[in-house]
Amino acid sequence: MTDLDGKVALVTGGATGIGRATAALFAAEGARVFITGRRQAELDEAAAAIGATAIRGDIADLDDLDTVAARIAESAGRLDVLFANAGGGEFNTLTDLTPESFDRTFDTNVRGTTFTVQKMLPLMPDGSSIVLTGSTTASRGGPGGGTYSASKAAIRQFARVWAAELAPRRIRVNVLVPGPTDTPGLRGIPGDETHVDGFLAQMAASTPLRRVADPAEIAQAALFLAGDRSSYMTGSELFADGGEVQVFPAA
Ligand SMILES: NC(=O)c1ccc[n+]([C@@H]2O[C@H](COP(=O)([O-])OP(=O)(O)OC[C@H]3O[C@@H](n4cnc5c(N)ncnc54)[C@H](OP(=O)(O)O)[C@@H]3O)[C@@H](O)[C@H]2O)c1
Repeated sequence: MTDLDGKVALVTGGATGIGRATAALFAAEGARVFITGRRQAELDEAAAAIGATAIRGDIADLDDLDTVAARIAESAGRLDVLFANAGGGEFNTLTDLTPESFDRTFDTNVRGTTFTVQKMLPLMPDGSSIVLTGSTTASRGGPGGGTYSASKAAIRQFARVWAAELAPRRIRVNVLVPGPTDTPGLRGIPGDETHVDGFLAQMAASTPLRRVADPAEIAQAALFLAGDRSSYMTGSELFADGGEVQVFPAA
């Protein structure tokens, strides 16, 4: 018996990075997996590799979310696990921040995550599990991270409230907090390929374990929150962060 035997799972942002590794693990653990994202080619390639079903959709677009819910309803009839993972952000200081950049990050990370959960909820039976992807930046302050950090802090707080609202139906809501993880998203932050190695080394140095995570390591934490092994956790957050937030880096 595997951890997600017979379950139906949706992983948003499931074509790359943390979402892809988690979708692959969920499928290996017996789940029927749906993945979403905006880029059709990446989705199709990932779906074929994982054995998942691809549904193209932008989480910032409510019509797309309706389409995703309708497709899952039509082909699976229910959703037992929702990994609301799609996200990203732009990094700029308070001085450099523009309203457009603020809106792009909040539209995806906050509004997009919120309405992903709202729109999938009617498909979710009592006792199902919702996992949201947070960030260590929600617990720390660093220059240039304002909008992204605040968006992830909003997700963390929503999880507490949704956990309270959904507890009568035994639907659990938890936040997975990855530390720096080697994904296309992290590699894209420096904006210039020649700076990627230096940036990853800097990220590794920010953790007591002195390395960035493999997405497969984060997927294991997502699996724990998604399945019954975390049956007494709700409204909580699980740090898979190499000790970045909880432990002061060793000298
Ligand atoms: N990597 C890290 O160090 C790290 C640390 C903490 C938290 N996180 C969080 O982990 C999550 C996954 O990121 P990742 O590092 O795995 O990066 P990634 O490889 O860039 O994955 C992000 C995925 O989300 C999808 N996505 C982005 N915006 C979307 C939207 N509006 N609608 C639908 N799909 C969207 C992307 O596909 P499309 O572009 O095709 O839509 C992509 O597949 C994010 O929430 C990120 O904030 C990452």
